[in-house]
Amino acid sequence: MSIISIDQAVSALTAGELVAIPTETVYGLAGRIDREETLKKIFTVKSRPFFDPLIVHVSELAQAKSLTREWPQLYDLLAQNFWPGPLTLIAPKNDLVSSLITAGLDSVGLRSPAHPLAREIIRRVGTPLAAPSANRFGRTSPTKAEHVETEFQGMISVVDGGACDVGVESTVLRASNSLGKWQIEILRPGGISPKQIRNLLDRRQISYTIGRAHSNASPGHTKAHYQPESPVVIINKRYDETEILSLVCDRLEQNFTSIVRLPLEGEPSQAARTLYQQLRDLSRKNAVIVIEKSEFHASEDWQMVWDRVERAAILHL
Ligand code: TXA
Ligand code: MG
Repeated sequence: MSIISIDQAVSALTAGELVAIPTETVYGLAGRIDREETLKKIFTVKSRPFFDPLIVHVSELAQAKSLTREWPQLYDLLAQNFWPGPLTLIAPKNDLVSSLITAGLDSVGLRSPAHPLAREIIRRVGTPLAAPSANRFGRTSPTKAEHVETEFQGMISVVDGGACDVGVESTVLRASNSLGKWQIEILRPGGISPKQIRNLLDRRQISYTIGRAHSNASPGHTKAHYQPESPVVIINKRYDETEILSLVCDRLEQNFTSIVRLPLEGEPSQAARTLYQQLRDLSRKNAVIVIEKSEFHASEDWQMVWDRVERAAILHL
């Protein structure tokens, strides 16, 4: 076991080592942002390509601002309302932020996580922590300490903070102002929904537009992502099980012998909480995980879940 205490985590992080820490979204592989060696280790351990920028985690709003060159005024309002919480704000970086973190981009992703252990750790280490999800590149994100242990076979120390509440990653958002109107782009749907943002801005009578950014605005949010051991197949039509199996074997040129269904219904927040856990639980040898697409999955409320499902899937039937 590689479960460690908060004290141990604080010492290890302070010394420049990596530690997996719980957040309310998913577990993060954390390292201090002011050591190039530490940052490089994050990429190596995850087998993450250097074009994929890291999110910087802070404990206070002032700490976030101290890393930026410019801070859109709207972010004060968003941070007041949604921080600590699952919202990452993209802002122009200053020299305190290594270009390793931002993958050469001129902007940095900042978030103040809500999990009390994450907050305590960041506060005690005293420097912001870069923390991508604690999984190997392209694989399912961990929502429990044991997922991190399995993923890195005990090579990474983990602080156990229980099961993550939100279950999928933070919303990544960018805002700019033109002629008094805010343009808000959602780069990655997540724990804070467009509806929550609209409610806030409408209440304050702020003029804005909000939409999904085109996919290359968020470099690491690649098409193949979150993939579990067993292939995930999205079903758009009614097929019986034998039809599905034969189509999948055919298309993937591999022999599968069973299908397991992952029903996605009920409350989207509940589905998000358990999605990654279920993708892990349902993975088994020679099995295919089948998710049936319903009309309501296209609704805005389901975006954070369906975005992950589509990236986890390798085939649509
Ligand atoms: O909930 C979360 O955000 C979790 C927990 C651990 O906090 N972290 C997380 O980190 O999901 P990661 O590294 O798996 O996702 C980082 C993603 C990048 O792939 C990219 O899509 C976006 O955040 N991102 C980060 N910095 C960016 C930037 N400067 N510009 C555009 N997108 C950025
Ligand atoms: Mg990730």
